[in-house]
Amino acid sequence: MPIPFIGTILFEGFPPWFPEPWNIAKAGTALGALFLTKWYASGAVCLTEKNLHGRVILITGGTSGIGAATVFELAKRGAQVVLLTHVAPSDPFLVDFIEDMRERTENQLIYAEQVDLSSLHSVRQFATRWVDNLPARRLDTIILCAATMTPPGHARTETAEGIEQTWMVNYLANFHLLGILSPAIRAQPFDRDVRIILPTCSSYISSPPLDAAITTGTGNKKDWTPTRAYARSKLALMVLGKAYQKHLDAYKRPDELPMNARVVLVDPGLARTPGMRRWLSRGTVWGLLMYVVLYALSWLFLKSSEMACQSILYAVLDGSILRGSGAKLIKECIEVNCARKDVDDEEVAKKLWEASDKLIEKTEKEQALLRAAEKAERERREKEEKREREVKEQKDEIEALVGAIKKGKAKGAQKEREKGVDIQGKEREKEKGKGGKKAKGSSSSGKIGR
Ligand SMILES: NC(=O)c1ccc[n+]([C@@H]2O[C@H](COP(=O)([O-])OP(=O)(O)OC[C@H]3O[C@@H](n4cnc5c(N)ncnc54)[C@H](OP(=O)(O)O)[C@@H]3O)[C@@H](O)[C@H]2O)c1
Repeated sequence: MPIPFIGTILFEGFPPWFPEPWNIAKAGTALGALFLTKWYASGAVCLTEKNLHGRVILITGGTSGIGAATVFELAKRGAQVVLLTHVAPSDPFLVDFIEDMRERTENQLIYAEQVDLSSLHSVRQFATRWVDNLPARRLDTIILCAATMTPPGHARTETAEGIEQTWMVNYLANFHLLGILSPAIRAQPFDRDVRIILPTCSSYISSPPLDAAITTGTGNKKDWTPTRAYARSKLALMVLGKAYQKHLDAYKRPDELPMNARVVLVDPGLARTPGMRRWLSRGTVWGLLMYVVLYALSWLFLKSSEMACQSILYAVLDGSILRGSGAKLIKECIEVNCARKDVDDEEVAKKLWEASDKLIEKTEKEQALLRAAEKAERERREKEEKREREVKEQKDEIEALVGAIKKGKAKGAQKEREKGVDIQGKEREKEKGKGGKKAKGSSSSGKIGR
């Protein structure tokens, strides 16, 4: 079939129904360009393979987008995954998510523990529970994937503890968590190369300097925009990553062997995740409609979550991460340089560390006082309620007693009355009986008299 067709083209030219060769070339170029764009935008694939059986991985943000894709890949390789979620493990959606993940990965070792990253108290509760565990729990990898981004045009929000939301969830919660988990990381045996993966975003390049965040703790309210707040939180996270690696390296192990724990910063690239969808649609219904209409564009230019998690997988699996020193930045499964000098600036890191410590200490003290006051108030209210209940019970008891006495008296009176009526009736009958006898007597005497 193709040979006669080619022969016809060669000897008789193209048949009339056949498209113009120029048009075919144009269509081919367009399809090729589309394919190349999609291929380029999809990014690199992690080619490293490793069996993760027996490894324990903690992950935040593992229920959505890139985090969920990462959990799937790690669980498929046999790892034990502990999801740190801001809802309780009994939440029906979370239960469904875990059951589905267990079924798809054929791995039952997927669990959840509650950690609300918008609360320092919640982070402390989880982390101290983990650290207090005796013997020390095995820990191979920590992936801090959770993040929040306020859609453009939305107002600045603060957590219940009074810290700007983006700063808290994207940076401060991670600082707090890693700070408390530090002994658990350092207690791991030498041959266990613990990895701490911090997903960042190229938006850190456009972040304003960290000075404002360092001096005010949560950034300047006046210059706040969602994009700036997000970029600043990611820059701070990167500075933290670099400083945390130095903090780990400075630890002298009791066995005098070097510290093997590694911090890896990962830029997963732009991806079609729930977070990105919310940002693109500006968190509005109209925006969502536009997103659906223009879905082809996001399909073409943005990665899928599965492709975006490849660099994170690389950071978890690849041996090259252990080479050299310092926290590496990984993008498209290769090591790249940071685009800003302040990421490596020790002075900035020191100031940020101290300011974060201070902010946490101040907030935790305030919150502890608040909780103590709330507890005292709750106890006072409970006591009052208890006393009111007791008074009411006593009153009810007395009323019941009085009621019973009254009833008894009423019954007695009734009986008395009935008795009185009885006596009167009997007397009346007696009277009647006497009257009858008298009448009989007088009539008989009358008879006698006649
Ligand atoms: N998507 C991108 O284009 C892109 C680009 C560069 C970097 N990144 C980075 O990659 C990571 C994952 O991004 P993504 O787009 O996949 O995120 P996402 O879909 O928005 O998911 C965010 C995750 O964070 C969790 N989270 C939010 N607030 C929390 C809180 N207070 N406590 C505990 N968990 C909380 C969410 O839990 P719930 O679902 O329960 O709310 C969710 O699992 C982020 O660090 C992000 O900055 C993403």
